[in-house]
Amino acid sequence: MKTRAAILWGQGQDWSVEEIELDPPKTGEVLIKLVGSGLCHSDEHLRTGDLTVPADVAQALSIHQYPVIGGHEGAGEVVEVGPGVTSVKPGDHVALSFMPACGKCPSCNSGRTNLCDVGAFLGLGMQPTDFTARHHSGAGQDLQISCFLGTFGEYTVASEMSVIKIDDDIPLEKAAVVGCGVTTGWGSAVYAAGVKAGDTAVIVGTGGIGMNAVQGAAMMGAENVIAVETVDWKREKAREFGATHTAASIEEAVQLVGEITRGRLADKVVISVGVADADLIAPAMSMTAKGGRVVHTAVAPLAQTEVKLDLTELTFWQRELVGTVFGSANPRYDIPRLLALYKAGKLKLDELVTNEYKLDDINRGYDDMYNGTNIRGFLRY
Ligand SMILES: NC(=O)c1ccc[n+]([C@@H]2O[C@H](COP(=O)([O-])OP(=O)(O)OC[C@H]3O[C@@H](n4cnc5c(N)ncnc54)[C@H](O)[C@@H]3O)[C@@H](O)[C@H]2O)c1
Ligand SMILES: [Zn+2]
Ligand SMILES: [Zn+2]
Repeated sequence: MKTRAAILWGQGQDWSVEEIELDPPKTGEVLIKLVGSGLCHSDEHLRTGDLTVPADVAQALSIHQYPVIGGHEGAGEVVEVGPGVTSVKPGDHVALSFMPACGKCPSCNSGRTNLCDVGAFLGLGMQPTDFTARHHSGAGQDLQISCFLGTFGEYTVASEMSVIKIDDDIPLEKAAVVGCGVTTGWGSAVYAAGVKAGDTAVIVGTGGIGMNAVQGAAMMGAENVIAVETVDWKREKAREFGATHTAASIEEAVQLVGEITRGRLADKVVISVGVADADLIAPAMSMTAKGGRVVHTAVAPLAQTEVKLDLTELTFWQRELVGTVFGSANPRYDIPRLLALYKAGKLKLDELVTNEYKLDDINRGYDDMYNGTNIRGFLRY
């Protein structure tokens, strides 16, 4: 079938909205009519080059990162299923998870489906079922898709491993943003940091991801939730999501945390800025209490491999520095659970999407992310 999608043809280029050819779903695959897609910062790392593999490495590993259809925060209605698909049927409402869950690998079977071994092939951009493309340009060239999904298009074909049936009465545009941003942020605080009642939690960077870490920390009963954000209005917005204090820089936060905890410092710190910055690690660790934990959710440029770390304090203060993918959540369990919390009025999703755009206006949507206009921008088809 013919449909439209936003393609990135190379590093540094704009997203190009074009007519594409989409094949029917093959074995284990699902054709979905998407309601829209959240504009997560992660897709921009490919455009800016943060996640662009150097040409010689790409050639040696036979990696082709472009052209790629972006988008990994979508939801919609099932139109058609390929042979062997059992968990969804045409007409079902589904959320898409940016990590697949095969259910068969050791990671899935140890309850960590966010680390599913099939995720290792995410960067290849092909269908995880048979490593071929269903999406093709108007000229017939194979197109890769972001996170096995490619939600920057009106229709997509995705593997059943990434497709999660949800209740019909959940608005699909709410389900879309739970497919990455909400679950990643909330899980960064709840699972990866393990925020407990009475904790002091600091969230550095309160965009689409960090704002959900704020609400996750508040939901777990943290006494102090400090939102660290450079954009003024987002600091105020963070209070709506449960922040008790705000700071305009990490330096300001270090000072504030010392004061409000009378020197005990923060139990948990989540770093969720747009582009990971090695210089944030030392101050984040320095405001972390004995036995406390810093969670690194932000994505770094591939070339960023060095960090300054006080190893003496790491040992004797028994501090932890950990990374997290998808907020260490289990998408098939947590996405429906978070949507149930939304339905019960206990999770804020309505306040999260601050602007909607047409697919054709995707570049304006990302411009707005950079100029601080949005918590989460949303493409509505
Ligand atoms: N680990 C994962 O599984 C995962 C999943 C999704 C996204 N991510 C990553 O999480 C990060 C956040 O994504 P997002 O979509 O929320 O991005 P975003 O651009 O919407 O939000 C980032 C926020 O950080 C703020 N900020 C930037 N530098 C800051 C600083 N030094 N101090 C305080 N605030 C600062 C910005 O003003 C912005 O509000 C990105 O790096 C993204 O790629 C990781
Ligand atoms: Zn994302
Ligand atoms: Zn698996």
